Amino acid sequence: MCGIVGYTGFGNARDIVLDGLKTLEYRGYDSAGVALGGDYIAVYKTAGSVDALNIPDCAAHIAIGHTRWATHGSPTQKNAHPHLSFDGSVAVVHNGVIENCEQLKAELVAKGIKFASDTDSEIIAHMLALEGGDMRAAVEKVAGRIVGAATLLALRKGDDRIYMLRKGASLAVGVGEGECFVASDTLALGKYVRSAYILSDGECAVISPITASFFKDGVKIFKTPTEIKRTPPTPCACHMRSEIDEIPTALKRTFLSVLDSVDETLLSDVRNAKRIFFVGCGTAYHAGLYGKLLLEKLLNVPCEATLASEFDGVRLHGENNYAIFITQSGETADTLQALDRCKRHGIPTLAITNVGGSSITFAADRTLLLEAGAEVAVAATKSYNCQLLAIYMLAKMANGVGFFANLPDELHSAIQDVYGADLYEERIRTSNLFFIGKGADYVTAREGALKFKEITYKMTDAYAAGELKHGAIALIDDNSTVIVTLTNPKDKHRIAAAVSELRSRGAYVLAISAVGDVGADKTFALPHLSDDDLYPLLSVIPLQNLALTASLCLGYDPDKPRNLAKSVTVI
Ligand code: G6P
Repeated sequence: MCGIVGYTGFGNARDIVLDGLKTLEYRGYDSAGVALGGDYIAVYKTAGSVDALNIPDCAAHIAIGHTRWATHGSPTQKNAHPHLSFDGSVAVVHNGVIENCEQLKAELVAKGIKFASDTDSEIIAHMLALEGGDMRAAVEKVAGRIVGAATLLALRKGDDRIYMLRKGASLAVGVGEGECFVASDTLALGKYVRSAYILSDGECAVISPITASFFKDGVKIFKTPTEIKRTPPTPCACHMRSEIDEIPTALKRTFLSVLDSVDETLLSDVRNAKRIFFVGCGTAYHAGLYGKLLLEKLLNVPCEATLASEFDGVRLHGENNYAIFITQSGETADTLQALDRCKRHGIPTLAITNVGGSSITFAADRTLLLEAGAEVAVAATKSYNCQLLAIYMLAKMANGVGFFANLPDELHSAIQDVYGADLYEERIRTSNLFFIGKGADYVTAREGALKFKEITYKMTDAYAAGELKHGAIALIDDNSTVIVTLTNPKDKHRIAAAVSELRSRGAYVLAISAVGDVGADKTFALPHLSDDDLYPLLSVIPLQNLALTASLCLGYDPDKPRNLAKSVTVI
């Protein structure tokens, strides 16, 4: 989603801001722009890629830039940020959605202001210009009038400072020698500074070439910087390919990180919970489904896995609830909002995330960091396997396991075998595709179907194997391909019956099985693992690879699927 970058200092502001925007490209965007400050503000915008921005060489020392994910108004040049105020004195970039946009716009129109774009964000530039006076106070005042999310940067003609406020999406400030930086993601700062000040919600900052100052409700505050550990990934032809290939090393890092972070307090919180909620979106929600099944089985505690966008306060009553939030980016607005709801109910919270210093790490009581390394491809792969491992270890440790002999090595070797499974056949992209499974394998089927949808744009779905006969079997004919995942021996007969039923109706069935033949047309045998509960970490890999191959065969860019963003910072 929208990326924000700002720079003020003695360096070349244009180059530094463009470089930051390129680093943030992975978040997903559809248009881009840069405003160069100084005696006047020059704005350059384009629909499409940052590379299409044509900014002449110049000596600007202050600039703000933006990659836009369209919400209000189509992804055109005029709707790209930055937006200029009516008098050209203020330029603004914004990440969020202004819910009371119509009301604020009507007030401005009544004052005779003409709008140059269809965006909600342009309002902010006009409101700031009308406020005048102390720009920091104006930023706080304007943000206070906005209902919704409004993380913003503003620069003013003839001023070498950038003013900013976080309301929703994150902002990080870096202070160098004779220069200051700001970006919505520390990934864009790591090349220039070693640590960053992460703004908390509602905080305001002012950066100049020599210093950064922070404020909350108009009062100056002191903040401690956080070390930037993340490094931008090295450019490569296909990030999703390299991220799948990195799964064994990422799992090893997660293994060490979880061992390092889990302590008795966390384990007793989990053990003593009367009910555990798993909350997440997309792939992270699927990790929550796995967590629910595993913790219910091992700890005999009722669990619920809920989509963050569906998480309401209704179920939060009662004693000893515990909530686990799963999010690769740590920035997903729906997940953060659900966490906030839990906090208001006094429920202890744990975040499982891949990004140290992300918003959720500040909001949750505890954090388990995955350390999977930067994940750039929009469709999550290695972070999912690592989420499952973190949940697996937490559940096993809460259940009394204190030692995981050779776990990373065992997974490493099994994954090498699984990489060899090539499920792709021509009919995968021409026939109607279904994913099925039971229990934890149904979770894998759902993740397989999601991956496939995300990067091939083909309609597919996942079904619980036993539920097929209650509806979806009506869709099955000889133009159907069904991929079945089976890792639990006790499900073998039931799955074999489903396979037979599907084949007798003409479907072509591919099986990924840890328990032998179930009568499919083709079977890929999973290597043996010492614990059945680990299979979901492994069995999803052929499905991740299948989606990737299909996407490439269809001629798409799997790293940047249409309409999807890596980090969804609006609700
Ligand atoms: C977006 C991405 C999904 C991802 C989901 C949750 O929708 O396109 O691939 O699973 O966000 O992201 P998170 O960072 O919270 O795990």
